[in-house]
Amino acid sequence: MKPTRVLSSLFLCLLLLLAISSANAQKITKASFGTADGQPVDLYTLTNRNGMEARIMNYGAIVTSLTAPDRNNKFDDVVLGFNNLDSYLKGHPYFGAIVGRYGNRIAKGRFTLDGVEYKLAVNNGENSLHGGIKGFDKVVWTATPTQTKSGAVLTLTYLSKDGEEGYPGNLSAKVVYTLTNNNELRIDYTATTDKDTVTNLTHHSYFNLKGEGNGDILNHLLTLNANRFIPTDSGSIPLGDLRNVQGTPFSFLKSTAIGERINGTDQQLQFAGGYDHTWVINGQMGGLRQAATVYEPTTGRVMQVWTTEPGVQFYTGNFLDGTLTGKSGKVYQKRYGLCLETQHYPDSPNHPQFPTTTLRKGATYKSTTIYRFSARK
Ligand code: GLA
Repeated sequence: MKPTRVLSSLFLCLLLLLAISSANAQKITKASFGTADGQPVDLYTLTNRNGMEARIMNYGAIVTSLTAPDRNNKFDDVVLGFNNLDSYLKGHPYFGAIVGRYGNRIAKGRFTLDGVEYKLAVNNGENSLHGGIKGFDKVVWTATPTQTKSGAVLTLTYLSKDGEEGYPGNLSAKVVYTLTNNNELRIDYTATTDKDTVTNLTHHSYFNLKGEGNGDILNHLLTLNANRFIPTDSGSIPLGDLRNVQGTPFSFLKSTAIGERINGTDQQLQFAGGYDHTWVINGQMGGLRQAATVYEPTTGRVMQVWTTEPGVQFYTGNFLDGTLTGKSGKVYQKRYGLCLETQHYPDSPNHPQFPTTTLRKGATYKSTTIYRFSARK
């Protein structure tokens, strides 16, 4: 071969390599997404080395989209959401949001801490749900993009003022999202307060491993590493006991289709119109352990959930009713998404036997959850 030919072939190879590496480079970019409460809202796009992408905005610390590969390495967006801020501002059931100061319900919006009774904003019948009327899902956070060896990182901070939604103490909350090069969305939470308070932060993505808008999640196979769940009253408030799942439709110890028992006559299913309960994750809380595996057989997509939290709220989108249209124009019908919200138990401030959600002045709240994606042949 002529030397000029060798050189030009080498040059072509170099171009190809550059194209491949830039297509799959780890990066984080920022674009303007509008304004909320008179403050700018930005949408960050995190990309990992395998081409997976997460979009996260600083309004509500919301994950607006998350792509994951199927068994043929085809990427689809696996979370429900919108492609414009207005749709989020108009109201939605916590799509992709960080929920706080307290994930899930506090009965009658009341609790007593050190002999003082606190009255919270009530927004779910007589109860307080997901932090109240204007929870952490509806505020503008401060965002800082960075990169580490393990992936692109978006750090979000929010100062919740003393008395906000009725909660005591100025709470400084920090949420660190990392899109790792192992195809994980990792969430590290920390919080501190200047007065004793309660806190229970969680993440509220609605997953559909067939791709958002592509039907319901009833064919997804679920495994939950939990021998017990928390039964509730008809208003979804824990009764106080931890119930054995054995022989009930709440046993997901073996991989089971979500739809297999969902329409049964079990009173707990009837109360919630499907699954909307906390499971008690086996193993030691505080240590990172596997809470759940979801497998979607038509695409081969798998999602594992790992957490340091004692519980996981498994919710089957029972309240989705076809009134919201998602980012690609598809209508979100009942059960078009599933949530696996890692958290302490609902209404813990009123159940002293539950692991405590009290955060003392000077102490640091810490929690980690990982959603790990892969595919099976
Ligand atoms: C949680 C609650 C549900 C519902 C959804 C959002 O999963 O437990 O009852 O509020 O959030 O609609």
